[in-house]
Amino acid sequence: MNGARKIRLVVLISGRGSNLQAILDQAGSGELPVEVAAVISNRPGVAGLERARNAGVPALDLDHKNFPDRPAFEAALIELIDRHRPDLVALAGFMRLLTVGFTNHYQGRLLNIHPSLLPKFRGLHTHERALAAGEIEHGASIHFVTAELDGGPVIVQARVPILPDDDPDTLAARVLEQEHRLYPLAIRWFAEGRLRQDGERVWFDGKPLVEPLQMPPCG
Ligand code: GAR
Repeated sequence: MNGARKIRLVVLISGRGSNLQAILDQAGSGELPVEVAAVISNRPGVAGLERARNAGVPALDLDHKNFPDRPAFEAALIELIDRHRPDLVALAGFMRLLTVGFTNHYQGRLLNIHPSLLPKFRGLHTHERALAAGEIEHGASIHFVTAELDGGPVIVQARVPILPDDDPDTLAARVLEQEHRLYPLAIRWFAEGRLRQDGERVWFDGKPLVEPLQMPPCG
C-alpha cells in the first residue's frame, strides 16, 4: 500500500457504526489507502459518531426530521457531503431511502453494504427472512448504489452457513463478522482503481463482472 494515493471517503451511518469502525481501523493502520474525510449520521447521538470522534474524524449529524421532505433533506446532505470533497461515499448502515437525485449525483462513487446475498432479501429484517425461507446459507453484499432499493450492481459477497440452531441474532453476528472484512476490501479495490461502475455494469481489473466476486475465506 505504500505510496498509493489516498482517496477521500465520506461515510454515512444511522447507528452503531461497527462497519465504520472496521473502515476506520484499516485506514488508521495504513492497510486502506483512504482518508476518512467525514462521518455523517442522519440520527444525532448515535454510537458511530463517537467512533468517528475517537478516530479524530469530523463527526457530523444531519437529522432528517428537521426537513420537510426527502428532497430537502437530500439537498442539505449533498451540500454537507460535498464540502468534504469525497472521491467515494460509503453507506454503512445508513437507513434512509435515497431518491434518484441523490444516487445520480454520486453515480459511480456510492457504495452500500447490505446484509444478504443480493438479489435475495432486499430491504429490512434480512436475517429473519433468510431463516424463515429455510435458506442454508446467507451473507452480505457490497454494491454500487442506484435509486432502486438495494438494487444496484453487486460487486462482492461474503457467504456464511446457516446452522440448525441459528436465531436471527446468532446469524446476524456471523454475517457481521464477514461484513467487517468485506467492506474494507471493496473500498480498497475502489481506492486502487480496480473497481468502477458503468451504469448497471461493474468493471473489475479492466473486465466487466458477469457475476459478483466472492470474498476468499479467512486465513
Ligand atoms: C449492517 O449489518 C449493515 O449491513 C446493515 O445495517 C447494519 C449496520 O451495522 N445495512 C442495511 O441493512 C442496509 N440496507 P453497523 O452500524 O454496526 O455497521
